[in-house]
Amino acid sequence: MMDMYSPSGRFHFHHQRRRIVWTLSSHKILFAVLWVSLFACSIIWQRSAVNVLRIYQKGQLPPRQWPPMLRPVVFNLTDFGGVGDGVTLNTMAFERAVEAISKLSERGGGQLNVQRGVWLTAPFNLTSHMTLFLAEGAVILGTEDEKYWPLMPPLPSYGYGREKKGPRYGSLIHGQYLKDVVITGHNGTIDGQGASWWSKFQNKLLKHTRGPLVQIMWSRDIVISNITLRNPPFWTLHPYDCKNVIISNVTILAPLHSAPNTDGIDPDSCEDMVIENCYIHVGDDGIAIKSGWDQYGIAYGRPSTNILIRNVVLRTVVSAGVSIGSEMSGGISNITLENILVWNSKRGVRIKTATGRGGYIRDVSYRNLTFDNLLVGIVVKTDYNEHPDDGFDPKAIPSVENITFHGIYGRAVRIAVRIQGSEEIPIRDISFSDMNVGIAKKKKRLFQCAYVWGRAIGKIFPAPCENLDQYDEQGRLVRRSTSRNATLTDYDV
Ligand SMILES: *[C@@H]1O[C@H](CO)[C@@H](O)[C@H](O)[C@H]1NC(C)=O
Ligand SMILES: *[C@@H]1O[C@H](CO)[C@@H](O)[C@H](O)[C@H]1NC(C)=O
Ligand SMILES: *[C@@H]1O[C@H](CO)[C@@H](O)[C@H](O)[C@H]1NC(C)=O
Ligand SMILES: *[C@@H]1O[C@H](CO)[C@@H](O)[C@H](O)[C@H]1NC(C)=O
Ligand SMILES: *[C@@H]1O[C@H](CO)[C@@H](O)[C@H](O)[C@H]1NC(C)=O
Ligand SMILES: *[C@@H]1O[C@H](CO)[C@@H](O)[C@H](O)[C@H]1NC(C)=O
Ligand SMILES: *[C@@H]1O[C@H](CO)[C@@H](O)[C@H](O)[C@H]1NC(C)=O
Ligand SMILES: *[C@@H]1O[C@H](CO)[C@@H](O)[C@H](O)[C@H]1NC(C)=O
Ligand SMILES: *[C@@H]1O[C@H](CO)[C@@H](O)[C@H](O)[C@H]1NC(C)=O
Repeated sequence: MMDMYSPSGRFHFHHQRRRIVWTLSSHKILFAVLWVSLFACSIIWQRSAVNVLRIYQKGQLPPRQWPPMLRPVVFNLTDFGGVGDGVTLNTMAFERAVEAISKLSERGGGQLNVQRGVWLTAPFNLTSHMTLFLAEGAVILGTEDEKYWPLMPPLPSYGYGREKKGPRYGSLIHGQYLKDVVITGHNGTIDGQGASWWSKFQNKLLKHTRGPLVQIMWSRDIVISNITLRNPPFWTLHPYDCKNVIISNVTILAPLHSAPNTDGIDPDSCEDMVIENCYIHVGDDGIAIKSGWDQYGIAYGRPSTNILIRNVVLRTVVSAGVSIGSEMSGGISNITLENILVWNSKRGVRIKTATGRGGYIRDVSYRNLTFDNLLVGIVVKTDYNEHPDDGFDPKAIPSVENITFHGIYGRAVRIAVRIQGSEEIPIRDISFSDMNVGIAKKKKRLFQCAYVWGRAIGKIFPAPCENLDQYDEQGRLVRRSTSRNATLTDYDV
């Protein structure tokens, strides 16, 4: 039993545990209800910044409640000298605006409207209790000149910049140790002008790792909705070690070719996150859930967990619609993906890891995936042998287990499934049910496995590999596999 200290200064021993538990969980529920209703209010309100001023004048704003998404004060970027002509550098205007909003945190923060126009800027930082609102036709344009991009220490769970040793460039829009931040609008755009970065990278003209477009680190209660993100220099949206993140109704666009590392969304060591109603069309992974790299990620030890991804349409010709890994050394668990469409792409969904990573990938559930014209539908790869340096521990063996696929449909897929476990990293407890993937052409091996232990339940098309135990629709064992370790994979995609 716990000792409780009451505000009146007395210890209470006799209130039993049940009471404490009840109080805790009822607080949780109350908190969730409050959060959801305030979020709903903010959505209604965000249609017009003018409305809010009116509400505020009537004195109806809840004072200093969390989250105070109804911001008491609204600014326009022009109030701070912003010029939306696509030429003038607006960094100072953004910085002044953020500074002004940071002074309002006691009163619930502030909203910064970016009106129609093209607002060129160097990277800037956000502050807590801030809403960045991009009007229809508003474009925040990142400057291409790298001397304006600040250098930052590498991410602790990666040890290095992801491409180069030493420091890395920050992101165009950045935040650290924040709480209650909203980036939303009427489908305004944040454009990183990545093309110049991609060509500098390909021509080896950069001394440091490129910066993401939007990166929020060590923060909580973040909402990103109703905007378009395009042409990031590197990854597009990178929440790092954050809690309680909602990404909704966001369009992410980068060229399919020659836009290296332009991942759409990279939840990295994040907890309690929803990604929904997004359209992602990029030059690398659409979504890639990560948690640090080899010995650095193991030392940092922060998993990505409790992540829900639903109603998302993705396209990539270089990588996969949704990836888990390959950087997963802090562990990745409890991931749900549902109603996902991947079209005209190389791969549908992929899990990737390697020896040296350590950590785990477990309790992942894929439901209602549709694959339309892909090279490979489902991929699990355990020899993704990229490492930060030679200091990784080859005995740090990741585990991959409890992965469920239910409702997998598609057409024109060359290879439906390729699960490539290994003697060191066998894939455990994987299950397939309700699967019908139309194939592009008659190939011998459409469902390939190596070191895979699990179940195929009911009718599965194409016919599942021999490694899996067969169950009927009622869940009765029909045939136990005698060849779980059998290796039937052919070429590498
Ligand atoms: C996005 O904008 C639409 C239309 O303004 C609004 O109905 C919706 O609630 C907004 N969603 C979020 C999550 O802000
Ligand atoms: C912000 O700009 C809009 C027009 O885009 C205008 O209607 C509004 O009054 C301005 N608000 C402030 C606080 O200046
Ligand atoms: C944003 O804040 C981080 C952390 O304090 C800092 O390293 C970085 O230089 C800041 N970026 C800008 C553009 O001021
Ligand atoms: C998505 O965003 C667009 C543009 O802001 C808006 O018109 C639409 O209503 C939003 N949809 C949802 C489901 O929020
Ligand atoms: C938002 O803008 C992007 C880019 O212009 C466009 O592709 C997308 O359809 C728009 N989204 C909505 C919901 O209007
Ligand atoms: C798993 O994640 C979901 C969100 O997708 C969350 O609602 C659920 O509580 C999590 N489960 C556990 C055991 O934490
Ligand atoms: C399955 O996902 C597709 C989108 O890929 C969606 O149109 C369909 O409604 C989903 N089915 C169910 C039963 O949710
Ligand atoms: C497997 O993962 C699911 C979530 O996808 C979870 O509900 C279930 O408890 C896990 N099973 C085991 C045996 O851990
Ligand atoms: C299959 O491989 C696992 C290691 O991945 C090993 O423990 C097991 O003995 C092998 N089984 C057979 C029948 O070879």
